[in-house]
Amino acid sequence: MNQEYKRITTNVLQEMKARDEKISMLTSYDYTLAKIVDDAGIDVILVGDSASNVVAGHETTLPITLDNMIYHASSVVRAVKRSLVVVDLPFGSYQGDSQRALESSIRIMKEAGAHAVKLEGGSEIIESIERILTAGIPVMGHLGLTPQSIYKFGTYTVRAKENAEAKKLVEDAKLLEKTGCFSIVLEKIPAKLAKKVTRSVRIPIIGIGAGPDVDGQVLVLHDMLGMTHEFNPRFLRRYLNLYKDINDAVESYVKDVKSGNFPNEEEQY
Ligand code: KIV
Repeated sequence: MNQEYKRITTNVLQEMKARDEKISMLTSYDYTLAKIVDDAGIDVILVGDSASNVVAGHETTLPITLDNMIYHASSVVRAVKRSLVVVDLPFGSYQGDSQRALESSIRIMKEAGAHAVKLEGGSEIIESIERILTAGIPVMGHLGLTPQSIYKFGTYTVRAKENAEAKKLVEDAKLLEKTGCFSIVLEKIPAKLAKKVTRSVRIPIIGIGAGPDVDGQVLVLHDMLGMTHEFNPRFLRRYLNLYKDINDAVESYVKDVKSGNFPNEEEQY
């Protein structure tokens, strides 16, 4: 763990890119896990709208509300001492209405104590990004596979394999940088294209399913801990099999309760 930085800020992330130090990022949605993740030295914690899937059990990220995101984000912020906490603006809270985007972002910063917001999209949402930035709120972009547009794409397959989409993605990345975003997430795009984008901009590019030649990596915490055992994309590396470990522990507890083995002499007053 790099102890050099006591507190990760957007400026620190830019410095890391400038000196070729990779940026680590994971999601968290609650106090207990965010505390572990922060203590372990992660640079950025994303309170992702993936909470809609992994916490609430929805099929997509569309149903999660701004109030839900503020609840998750405030729980995470209370746990964090060092990491930069970035919070997703949920579907419907910023598209097509820059005033609404600004109000949603102000609520996230004020009520949750977040450090930055993340929005999905490029030129289509540039007015919203500009408006949020006027309030001094740092903005992270998100290009490539943008799950809030799943009903436009139809599938969660790799994006920007065709020339036209790849060209728009590079243009969008440059536009986000020019507008003032401090970083961009690139999700599920060819590694070669991610490398090209990373070299085309000065702001840090964080990849998920975007290969190694980016400035940092992000994964969904529940996926990398092996809690979501039915989700198996090629880009995912599992560091634990918590589904099995928790399942085994609960089975043992049930057995002990049923048999009268729990609590024992030492586990009572
Ligand atoms: O919501 C989320 O978890 C995300 C990451 C996949 C980047 O946006």
